[in-house]
Parts: sequence; structure tokens; C-alpha cells
Amino acid sequence: MKKPIVAPSILASDFANLQSEVEMLNESAADWIHIDIMDGIFVPNISFGLPVTEAIHKHAEKPLDVHLMIENPENYVENFKKAGAASISVHYEACKHLHRNLQQIKALGCLAGVALNPHTNIDHLKDTIEEIDFVCLMSVNPGFGGQSFIENTYRKIEDLKQLIVDHGAHTLIEIDGGVNQKNAAQLIDAGADVLVAGSFVFNSSDPKSTISDLKNVMDHA
Ligand code: DX5
Ligand code: ZN
Repeated sequence: MKKPIVAPSILASDFANLQSEVEMLNESAADWIHIDIMDGIFVPNISFGLPVTEAIHKHAEKPLDVHLMIENPENYVENFKKAGAASISVHYEACKHLHRNLQQIKALGCLAGVALNPHTNIDHLKDTIEEIDFVCLMSVNPGFGGQSFIENTYRKIEDLKQLIVDHGAHTLIEIDGGVNQKNAAQLIDAGADVLVAGSFVFNSSDPKSTISDLKNVMDHA
């Protein structure tokens, strides 16, 4: 049975108790810790930045997956690597020189990801797919946690999977936004490899068992 990479989004955690939230993730079945960086320009919200990422890294025993929802990400990727990022995704819509940005992230020794807004067609990745370690398909409009999942995502995953196979690439597909126990199995069936989940994990009464349920969702599908 396929087990997804599960990446809880710290955005939905209790920021006043960040250390214990990270320790909870360390003890859980989570594979990565998803870090949402918002600049108030690319998206209509501001989350947190480098010092908070460093603070998370100090306690984290899992790789940090940094999702940059910011303009001019090329100016910040090096500092996010220094702050502890293991993977970094930049938005297609925020990059004038996507190919160069991917090279820059890989040269730092990080996995290089491209995030696509719900309105962005996967065909835009035709000429870069071999350079992309993972595509982060946004299944909500970026900027806020706790939004409803956009159903068109299933079709997008299938199209993206086909593009990856056609190019003989090894790109992983990450799904970000509105992921829960109800849609997880269908997402994996469609071709998703990485599931990001924020509010579904942190608003649950037992986040550790919620994470483990997501990890093992195909066992009961
Ligand atoms: C949205 C962020 C997501 C968000 C997911 O802009 O990129 O990572 O935290 O949160 P949920 O799982 O609550 O939709
Ligand atoms: Zn995210």
C-alpha cells in the first residue's frame, strides 16, 4: 500500500507553544514539517519569516519543507537554507526566471519545488519538469489555512503525473490546502506523493493520531 509523505503545516499550530508543537511532530509519523512563508504582497496575508523558521529548526528532528509565498524569492532562498530548510518551493507566478531559481535552490543542497496556484496550468512546467524535485499543487488559493479543497485538483494531479511520466522525470507531487481524511485516499490514487495538512491536523483532538491516520490512509481505502 502506498504511504504518502505527510507534511503537517505549522501555520495551523499554536504559535505561543511552538516548541511543544514541534516536539509533538517529532514524535509523530510526520515526514516533513511544512513551513508557510507569506509576505503580504504575493499573498494577502503575512505569516512569519526567518527567525521563526530558525527557532523551529532548533527543535525539529524532521526536514523543514519551506513554501515561499513571496515575491522575489531568489533574494531569500539562501537565508532560508541557513535557517534550516531541506526543501524550498517557489511560486511559478512569482518567478521571472524559474529555471535559474531552481538551479539556485539545488546549488544550496535543497530539494527544489515549484508551487502552482489553482489557476495556473501544469503545461507551464513542460520545459522545466526535469529540473523540479517536487511540484506543490495548491488545492486552495494561497494565503490562509482552513479553506475548502478545490475539487479540480484531482484532474490537475492526473495531468501533472502524465507530464512527469512523459518526460521520464522523478518529480514528486505535493498537495497543499484543504487536505483531510476524506480526500487523502483519492489524492494518492490520482498520483499525489506528499500531503500537506494544517488545520485538519492541528484542530483535531489528537494531532499525532490524525497524522498517523493520514500516513496509513491507503490501508483502509
Ligand atoms: C496556504 C498554505 C497551506 C496551509 C494549509 O496558503 O500554503 O500550507 O497551511 O492549511 P490547511 O491544511 O488548513 O488548508
Ligand atoms: Zn503551504
